[in-house]
Amino acid sequence: MGRLAAKRTLITGAGSGIGRGAAVRFAAEGASVMCADRDPAGAETTVRMIEKEGGTAAACRVDVTVEEDAERMVAETVAAFGGLDALYANAGVSGVGTGADTTLDDWQRVIAVNLTGVFLSDKYVLRHLLVQGTGGSVVNQASVGGLVGVPGIAPYAAAKAGVIGLTRQLAVEYASASIRVNAVCPGTVPTALVVGTYTERNGPLADDWQADRARDYPLGRLGTEDDIAYAALYLASDESTWVTGQVWAVDGGITAA
Ligand SMILES: NC(=O)c1ccc[n+]([C@@H]2O[C@H](COP(=O)([O-])OP(=O)(O)OC[C@H]3O[C@@H](n4cnc5c(N)ncnc54)[C@H](O)[C@@H]3O)[C@@H](O)[C@H]2O)c1
Repeated sequence: MGRLAAKRTLITGAGSGIGRGAAVRFAAEGASVMCADRDPAGAETTVRMIEKEGGTAAACRVDVTVEEDAERMVAETVAAFGGLDALYANAGVSGVGTGADTTLDDWQRVIAVNLTGVFLSDKYVLRHLLVQGTGGSVVNQASVGGLVGVPGIAPYAAAKAGVIGLTRQLAVEYASASIRVNAVCPGTVPTALVVGTYTERNGPLADDWQADRARDYPLGRLGTEDDIAYAALYLASDESTWVTGQVWAVDGGITAA
């Protein structure tokens, strides 16, 4: 039996990076996975990767900033799998800018995806779980950037800190219904988002940028999609049924240093 056997799951931002890695890992552990993304081609590619390994998955086009999309995404998941047990609200964008130079447009764009998008995804999954009556698990994607100051990512850091507050809030609001809500705070995983962030902040990347960045990490390397997926997997599974309201840095030790 897989660690997520018979779990019906929904992952936002599953068309790339950490979301895709988690979708593949969840499916390998027996979950049905709805791969939701605003990039339908990316989501379809993830579905094909899962099906090639004999797993169960479907794709859904969604912009998590649009309330009707979030509601439809949950309805499509329930229709596809006959219910929904766990959400990984992972979709996000980079958010470069200091406090003094971030434009209001950039601020609102980043907050819309990275905070409001998590709120809307959680909202409709919670509504479904309350009706379903079987408890469930919500895993929200925060970041090390929501825990400590990192110069030059003010809107991103504010959104991720907001996700942490929302996570604790929802955890206490829905614990009595056996719905658990936790957050994962990844350190640097070299995905499209990270390459975009670094390029925007520092210009073209040097060939050895990953090795250079890895020197900041006590464990001596950057993260992988699987490093984060395994944390989300644990929180989505029944292995963590006494864990709620927690904020888990999965970060090679950087916030401890
Ligand atoms: N990579 C890292 O180092 C790192 C560190 C900490 C936190 N995170 C967080 O992990 C999450 C995934 O990031 P990633 O690094 O895998 O990036 P990524 O760019 O590889 O993947 C992000 C995915 O989210 C989707 N997306 C973006 N906006 C969306 C929207 N409005 N609606 C639906 N889908 C949308 C994109 O299409 C993409 O498929 C993000 O929330 C990010 O902030 C990443």
